Amino acid sequence: MSPLDPLSSALADLDTLEATGLDAFGQARDAGSVEAARIEFLGLKQGRVKAAQDRLKSLEPVAKRAYGQRFNAVKQALEAACDAAKVQAARPAVVSSEAIDVTLPGHRPRLGHRHPLSQTADELIDLFGRFGFVVARGPEVEDVHHNFEALNIPPTHPARDPLDNFYISDRAMLRSQTSPVQIRVMERQPPPVRVIAIGRVYRPDTVDATHSFMFHQVEGLMVDRGVTMADLKTVLRLFAESYLGRDVQIRFRPSFFPFTEPSVEVDMLWHGGDRWVEMGGAGMVDPNVFRAVGYDPDEVTGFAFGLGIERLCMRRHAIDDIRLLYQNDTRFLGQF
Ligand code: PHE
Repeated sequence: MSPLDPLSSALADLDTLEATGLDAFGQARDAGSVEAARIEFLGLKQGRVKAAQDRLKSLEPVAKRAYGQRFNAVKQALEAACDAAKVQAARPAVVSSEAIDVTLPGHRPRLGHRHPLSQTADELIDLFGRFGFVVARGPEVEDVHHNFEALNIPPTHPARDPLDNFYISDRAMLRSQTSPVQIRVMERQPPPVRVIAIGRVYRPDTVDATHSFMFHQVEGLMVDRGVTMADLKTVLRLFAESYLGRDVQIRFRPSFFPFTEPSVEVDMLWHGGDRWVEMGGAGMVDPNVFRAVGYDPDEVTGFAFGLGIERLCMRRHAIDDIRLLYQNDTRFLGQF
């Protein structure tokens, strides 16, 4: 059929009428605009639906039938749209997508908390505090004198190898241990001494499940008249039982550090119970260290220890990979 065919153009006008009418009722937000649209489209005398109905008379009998059917459908659709728009306009105005419904239950915000390593450090400060140890601090960028020389580590010692340390210059480095804080404390004050130092240390180790190029240590130092190895072992055992639990097993193995004599390495039985893991080093302060800071080794004795905080935290919480502690995955951190 050509576009000029009277039936075709009448049907096309019905399509337009339906589309514009549905649009008008769909847009109408309040009772006033619904009523305006009702008059425009469904008004009994002047409405556009009435006009479309009147057009029926002008069509041939065959065309009338087709037009009439389509007309009825359009009229019903617009009446239904008008009813729906009236209902919609009668609703309270607050229902928009951005409105806040104060009657809904609230969302409790998820609070963050301290990182497990910080929690461990806090607890160490608390536990050693009960044994009378106070917190001391030292710089992370340390000089070679405090990191090595005053600790009786001579220039030829393999621990000073540039491949095993982060040197910044000939005389400055990222500290490889917290032991230099021992020196700084003893330089500052006369005996007796009872301190712990907690902080980061740096070593160019290859990262794996138990190693990292940066980790944390807790250093302990006790100096007084008559301090013995028995005191050292008692303090470390009491500490291990307090932090890791009564049933934890630790052992002391003879070892060597230039700044302690005798020296031990301290192991703890790993969770699972099938292997020993090194917890740190310890020993009786070497007389040469006392001389370097002006203490008299005939007057005082002392013990020192340095423990890995990550491993303590891992043993406590049965964590098997140190890297989890640095990845800041909240699914992991949320468990502590
Ligand atoms: N500083 C030693 C280390 O990092 C540990 C240690 C501290 C050993 C104190 C003895 C005394 O391996």
